[in-house]
Amino acid sequence: MSFGHRILTSAKAALRRAATRGLRRAPSSGETTGVPDAGSDSYYIRLTHRTGEKWGIWSDATLNRFAKMAKDVAGDFAEVGVAYGATFRRLVPLAWEQGKLAHAFDSFHGMAEPGLCDRPDSEGGSHPEGEFDIGGIEAFRSLMDSHKIDRGDYRLWGGFIPECFDRYEGAGRFSLTIVDVAHYGPTRQALNWFWDRTPADGLVLVGDFVIGWDMEATRAVKEFLRVRQDYDLVDCYNNQIALRKIPA
Ligand SMILES: C[S@@+](CC[C@H](N)C(=O)[O-])C[C@H]1O[C@@H](n2cnc3c(N)ncnc32)[C@H](O)[C@@H]1O
Repeated sequence: MSFGHRILTSAKAALRRAATRGLRRAPSSGETTGVPDAGSDSYYIRLTHRTGEKWGIWSDATLNRFAKMAKDVAGDFAEVGVAYGATFRRLVPLAWEQGKLAHAFDSFHGMAEPGLCDRPDSEGGSHPEGEFDIGGIEAFRSLMDSHKIDRGDYRLWGGFIPECFDRYEGAGRFSLTIVDVAHYGPTRQALNWFWDRTPADGLVLVGDFVIGWDMEATRAVKEFLRVRQDYDLVDCYNNQIALRKIPA
C-alpha cells in the first residue's frame, strides 16, 4: 500500500468514526451547549465551530456576513423554520437595511412527524413531532412585538411545507434564504422551492448540515448538490452550509 493510499484509508476511517458518533447523538440547531467536552460525541464533528460561538446556532457574524453578500442581489430575505424567532428577529433588520422584506415560513405548530430519512427519537435522534410549537402564527407575531420588530418589516407564511409555500404571495425572488427545518423531507422541498426563486449570486444557507452524516437535513442537501451544477460552495461551518447560485 502506498503512503498516499494509507493516508486516504486512515482519513476515511476517521470520517466513518465521526459519522457513527454523529448518528448516535446528533446535536440540533436548537442546542446551546457551547463548546463540547473533549471526547464527547459532538467534539469530533465540531471541527468548524469556533470557540465562543454556540453549536449550530446562526451567529451574528454569520448573518451579517451573508446579508452583506446579498446586498446587491435583488430579492427579499427568507427563513424557513423560525422556531421562536431567535434568528428571524435579527434577520428582519438586516433585510430592512437593504430595503427588503424578511419572510418567515413555518408551521408555527412545530415539527411534522419524522419521515423515513429522519431518525426516530428512540434512536437518539431527530426532532419529534410538535417540537418548537409556538402556538400558531399570532403567537409568533406577538413574540416579534415583544422584541420591538415592526410588523410592516416582515411577512409570515404559516402551514406545514409545502402549504406555507402555496400561501406565499410576493415577488417570488429571494436574495438570502435560511433553511432550518432539520428534517429530510421539508429540507428537500424547501431547497427545490427556494433555489428556483434564487437569482444568480443569491445565497441559500442550510442548518443541521454535517459532512459525515447521511440523514435528515444533511441527506437532503447532499442529494440536492448531487443533481445541481449551478452553485458555489461558499462555506461549510458550524453545522451550516452556505451555497451561492451561479448561472447554470
Ligand atoms: C430547528 S427549528 C428552527 C430554528 C430557527 N431557525 C432558529 O434559528 O432559531 C425548526 C423549525 O422548523 C419548523 N418546521 C419543521 N418541519 C416543518 C415542516 N414540515 N413544515 C413547516 N415548518 C416546519 C418547526 O416548526 C421549527 O420552528
